[in-house]
Amino acid sequence: MLRIGFIGWRGMVGSVLLGRMQEEHDFKGFEPIFFTTSNVNGKGPDVGLDIPPLRNAFDIQLLSSMDIILTCQGGDYTNKVCPELRKQGWRGYWIDSASALRMKDDTIIVLDPVNRTVIDAGLSSGIKTYVGGNCTVSLMLMALSGLFASGHIEWISSMTYQSASGAGAKHMKELIAQMTILGDASRRLLDDPASTAIAIDEVVTRELRSNAFPVENFSAPLAGSLIPWIDSAMESGQTREEWKGSAETNKILQTKKPIPVDGLCVRVGAMRCHSQGLTIKLDTDIPLDEVSEMIEKGNQWVKVIPNDKESTLKFLTPAAVNSTLTIPVGRLRKMLFGPEYLAAFTVGDQLLWGAAEPIRRILNIIISYLS
Ligand code: HSE
Repeated sequence: MLRIGFIGWRGMVGSVLLGRMQEEHDFKGFEPIFFTTSNVNGKGPDVGLDIPPLRNAFDIQLLSSMDIILTCQGGDYTNKVCPELRKQGWRGYWIDSASALRMKDDTIIVLDPVNRTVIDAGLSSGIKTYVGGNCTVSLMLMALSGLFASGHIEWISSMTYQSASGAGAKHMKELIAQMTILGDASRRLLDDPASTAIAIDEVVTRELRSNAFPVENFSAPLAGSLIPWIDSAMESGQTREEWKGSAETNKILQTKKPIPVDGLCVRVGAMRCHSQGLTIKLDTDIPLDEVSEMIEKGNQWVKVIPNDKESTLKFLTPAAVNSTLTIPVGRLRKMLFGPEYLAAFTVGDQLLWGAAEPIRRILNIIISYLS
């Protein structure tokens, strides 16, 4: 029976992953071994099976006895443990949600509804490292897989509206803590029907600029504001998050001629759904109904939303998409720049298709491949 080690299952992506695995009854046909960096011999998660106590996530010898290791522990763990295992000759499969190994030549970035052929070719050629993509990139590709498959995309500009979850669990809590402070400070005025919006705004602005406002994680207010910077600076003037758009898209699709993807990445006060406003340059004028059909046929999760107010408000918001696997694409229309320029807006759950789901699915793909 395959021995599969799980590391980082307690964190946010890891726990969403375990939840999805249980929903899909994935815990069967292999021996799961749960590792820990802090609670050796502690009790593992309840996955409906008798499982041994937690093992040490730095025990290279024990890790070497795994056929597959799946980690959501983060890049520092990956950088420390994976090279050590490989150096000792371990030939098992390493599945990772962190970005550390993504751009290495012998790594496949996994998003199987979009690049199953790339994954299958990787498995056949003996590649042993499979890594989830950047959430924004994966969500954009899920949204446009049908259009990419048509071969008509010349370039894409993606302006993002990224949720707090992409920054981490502490950030999600900080966003709500910020909202609570703003709500509490405004309470008396909100309760007074005679108060003005300008008076409330003065209170809110004072709080946002106060030294006591909680910004330990975001380094700036997010509630009642936004942050047009995600990740570190690159020499190009892009942030690393913006740089990933082109680099990862083209690696995931293994394009022969790279398709430029660029834009500005912005953090907004959504909890766990990333949204993106897309400008898509096609190489030819394709009628809008044909574009819609291509997008809708891309994969079973994508859903084209009619370009009207009622449908948009009902289906094309983080509030509607939160905790679901649906990838709505709406606001589809031709732009004033010319008939080859297409506007679109898409939303996706950053923790599901943006993180845990591609990892859950590659685990099953590798298990089938080995069986
Ligand atoms: N880097 C992304 C973000 C999440 O900050 O929203 C991970 O892909």
